[in-house]
Amino acid sequence: MAVTHAVTDHLDGDYLRQALEQDVRTGLTSVPKWLPPKWFYDAVGSELFSQITRLEEYYPTRRELAILRERAGDIAARSGADTLVELGSGTSEKTVLLLDALTAAGTLRTYTPVDVDAVTLEAAAERLAARYPRLAVRPVRADFEHHLSLLPGTGRRLVAFLGGTIGNLPPAAREVFLKELRSTLKPGDTLLLGTDLVKDRRRLVAAYDDALGVTAEFNRNVLRVINRELDADFEPGAFEHVALYDEDNDWIEMRLRATRAMRVQVRGLGLSISFEPGEEMRTEISAKFREEGVLDELTKAGFDVLHWYTDPAEDFALTLAAR
Ligand code: SAH
Ligand code: AVI
Repeated sequence: MAVTHAVTDHLDGDYLRQALEQDVRTGLTSVPKWLPPKWFYDAVGSELFSQITRLEEYYPTRRELAILRERAGDIAARSGADTLVELGSGTSEKTVLLLDALTAAGTLRTYTPVDVDAVTLEAAAERLAARYPRLAVRPVRADFEHHLSLLPGTGRRLVAFLGGTIGNLPPAAREVFLKELRSTLKPGDTLLLGTDLVKDRRRLVAAYDDALGVTAEFNRNVLRVINRELDADFEPGAFEHVALYDEDNDWIEMRLRATRAMRVQVRGLGLSISFEPGEEMRTEISAKFREEGVLDELTKAGFDVLHWYTDPAEDFALTLAAR
């Protein structure tokens, strides 16, 4: 029988509200203005991200899936895990390849998806519990930048952080995150880290500026979230989507550009914010990596790199590392 447990919620009402308030106040009063990408992901934002993963231009999901198709068996064998913990799990679509491989290896007992978006988390947990009747599915709603120490520590764990989501953290935050993650792991635990790789800038920019405008809507969704949660009056249609590649930092930057002068009221914060015509506000970075950079960051955080997996085109990589 499927064993689905209720979502363990570390983001209950007050916590989430205070975190959003703090981020929005800090970001909108900074020069230049910015907003952290985790606020894209309400139910609508998660659905838009799902649509992005199916776009012709957005290669990372297909490439990571291709690596997992080829190498999930090897990853399962090397990890020896009985517990899969997935950070930023979203719809957990690629995860089935890991779950299948760990099931075939005969070790798997527990799957703990971890995400900020409750709707997507619950739907994924239900779907996987139905698909794997012997699996204990224990979803946790948490912020992987703040709650790693609260995640269940039992079993021999493989922590998967897929999709290249680590690239959405700036370098200093990545360093803190990796060190903290390492410190929560026990001997025998492993990390499987997905990273998008440096490549031709036209392909990179196209992946974040698709012809159908899905990424543009995803980008504007952060304004809808702030309107709803903080009683603000952003006009999402008055902001243009911008995606550019920063060669110095090796990252894609998404911005929202004000198409005219505007004053925005964020009533929930008692803030009145003005935008100049053409003013740009950063909403996401998405770092692109080289092999030596990934290995260096992992090693500096105290991990032992076990294996580097990539697709034939070397577009995307998965790194397996031991605590
Ligand atoms: N792993 C999936 C989804 C990637 S999208 C894939 O590879 O396709 C990024 C996911 O991380 C979203 O589901 C989002 O809700 C979640 N997320 C973003 N910031 C987060 C944070 N700080 N803590 C936990 N989850 C977060
Ligand atoms: C979740 N994350 C890895 C995606 C990325 O590619 O950085 C989010 C995204 N932003 C725009 N398109 C997709």
